[in-house]
Amino acid sequence: METRRRLGATGLLVPPLGLGAGELGDPALDDDEVGRLLNGALDLGATFIDTARSYGLSEERIGRHLSHRRAEFVLATKVGYGVAGEADWTAGCVRRGIDEALARLRTDCIDLVLLHSCPAETLRDEGILTALDEAGRAGKLRAAGYSGEGAALTAAIESGRFGVVECSVNLCDQRGLGSALPAAVARDLGVIAKRPLANAPWRHAGRPERQDVDTYLERWRTMRIELAGLEPDELALRFAAHAPGVTCCIVGTTRLDHLRRGVELVARGPLPAEVVEAAQAAFRAADQGWEGLV
Ligand SMILES: NC(=O)c1ccc[n+]([C@@H]2O[C@H](COP(=O)([O-])OP(=O)(O)OC[C@H]3O[C@@H](n4cnc5c(N)ncnc54)[C@H](OP(=O)(O)O)[C@@H]3O)[C@@H](O)[C@H]2O)c1
Repeated sequence: METRRRLGATGLLVPPLGLGAGELGDPALDDDEVGRLLNGALDLGATFIDTARSYGLSEERIGRHLSHRRAEFVLATKVGYGVAGEADWTAGCVRRGIDEALARLRTDCIDLVLLHSCPAETLRDEGILTALDEAGRAGKLRAAGYSGEGAALTAAIESGRFGVVECSVNLCDQRGLGSALPAAVARDLGVIAKRPLANAPWRHAGRPERQDVDTYLERWRTMRIELAGLEPDELALRFAAHAPGVTCCIVGTTRLDHLRRGVELVARGPLPAEVVEAAQAAFRAADQGWEGLV
């Protein structure tokens, strides 16, 4: 894979394509299969892994299957909610959320701790920000960030308190490319692009059950993107991974063959300029105030 990219000013280096471990928390998945996928990701050079407290067994499985290879990857998780005995979005919840994640992930340092899609006012809570700073000073995390969209994303970028943001960047979700990403780059923040395939809407003949996938399918159909002779996954991943400002895009998958293909596609480099321009024009023409999907 392409040389590692600098994740803003965090001192971390990440590949252009990482693994989004959102679906790896599903208890219905075979645990050994998940172990093969996680180890296979590192073998492929997809050495950035994104998880969250709310992703079922995901953190626990990463800890179980990868703690012996901890030095080989950059690890991100998300906190802010769901800790027994602590109100959501409080300093105590963030503090204990980090401690519990460290234990589940079987590590003594999480590279990147993200506040998981809270509203903008939460990002101004000095108690929460101090909890993150203190965890950094204690060596429990290397960088803090925010994962989310819209006004909160802008607030996170402008606050000067975070080293990284994670937001949706894909063919059907281009809002962030206009202002948030340039603002993040101007402040030397790292940018993780989530949902880089727009959840692969082209796979669905009928209406998907998941609301987010359904929304992307509707956008995909409305946009009528010109594929320029490429498979849709190639168009999508080269668009996201090489979009200006994106440091690393995280593809969500339960399949090692899909991850391998993703690595190969991103390695083909940026799309030709006219293909990018056509995809951007399709978004502009169809855009009905489409906000980033959280
Ligand atoms: N608020 C937040 O912080 C937030 C929100 C959403 C996502 N995320 C993060 O971003 C990651 C990625 O987002 P996502 O999983 O929602 O969206 P995504 O990466 O755009 O799409 C994932 C879907 O694409 C399929 N897929 C993967 N490679 C493919 C290929 N080559 N061809 C066709 N289909 C393919 C996967 O199915 P298979 O299993 O069959 O490969 C999966 O259903 C998540 O895992 C999570 O880490 C964060």
